[in-house]
Amino acid sequence: MVHRSLLTILAVLALGFTVEASISAVNLQVGDSYLIRNAENGAEALVRSIYGDKQTMAISGPNKGKWISESGKTVDSSNFQLFQNGSVLLKSARRIDSGTYQKYPNPIIRIGDIGYAPPVLIIAVKDGYDY
Ligand SMILES: *[C@@H]1O[C@H](CO)[C@@H](O)[C@H](O)[C@H]1NC(C)=O
Repeated sequence: MVHRSLLTILAVLALGFTVEASISAVNLQVGDSYLIRNAENGAEALVRSIYGDKQTMAISGPNKGKWISESGKTVDSSNFQLFQNGSVLLKSARRIDSGTYQKYPNPIIRIGDIGYAPPVLIIAVKDGYDY
């Protein structure tokens, strides 16, 4: 597992102010486990975009701990464990778990001319050690 350092990007939205987003990236090997902490401490859900599908995992309520796709379908989530504090353990990474993960809601906090977007985690899962 290789952690890349936190990088900060600047983006200018149509809103007319600058948004600073922090993006962290993690490279996993197939079978690695990884604790996703983006939805810790008060988020309603963890949201991920993988292979063109956007899936939501609620932290509480009847669907808690289950990925629900945009079309409303429940996705097999046995490879994930939701903890009470909102962190989610990816037990054994698969290539199809590659994508971006962030909490929901994920509001931009504006301070002066700069908006701060909460962190986005990019997970890349590879097999083999050739990268
Ligand atoms: C949340 O729970 C997980 C699993 O018990 C733990 O590893 C993590 O450190 C916790 N996070 C905080 C902020 O306490």
